[in-house]
Amino acid sequence: MKEILIVFASMTGNAEDVAAELHDHLCDRSLPVRLLDLSLHEDITVLEEADCILGVVSTWGDGEPPDDAVPFFDNLSQAEPMGLGGMPFAVLGLGDTGYDQFCECGKILERELLRHGGKPMLPRVDCDVWYEDEVESWRDQLLALFSSRQAVALGADVER
Ligand SMILES: Cc1cc2nc3c(=O)[nH]c(=O)nc-3n(C[C@H](O)[C@H](O)[C@H](O)COP(=O)(O)O)c2cc1C
Repeated sequence: MKEILIVFASMTGNAEDVAAELHDHLCDRSLPVRLLDLSLHEDITVLEEADCILGVVSTWGDGEPPDDAVPFFDNLSQAEPMGLGGMPFAVLGLGDTGYDQFCECGKILERELLRHGGKPMLPRVDCDVWYEDEVESWRDQLLALFSSRQAVALGADVER
């Protein structure tokens, strides 16, 4: 595998911390991984350069991405399908069930990656305010997939 791309969108650091920890775990296993802050990156073609995309995104406002990540999400939603060619991806959203648009940004990211031709490796995870257990479980599932060295092939087979 050439590169696992972890993308995150965060306002107050929760999603950033989850993404950074995931990055460290994958690095510890000598996997080729890159961490990308969507607040600093508007160009969606970066997704085409990866072999696998892991998204960790929080939701703000009334179901919107973190402020500085809005341009990336707008570009992703407005672009013609990129044709990611079945690229495996997984999305974990952080949110709060107290809001009507619970984890909407994770849902948007999943919908857009599907529209652009990606294939989910795992079911999307929508996390409430106490998310440590779900994050750990998600990370363990990913590590198991990567350690099997079949993550790319599995992307086509996982049922939704
Ligand atoms: C003003 C405000 C608006 C929010 N809006 C939503 C929302 O619409 N949907 C949701 O699921 N969570 C919402 N949240 C909860 C955040 O997504 C949650 O606290 C998350 O852990 C923040 O992660 P971050 O630090 O990475 O940005 C909101 C929180 C605040 C303070």
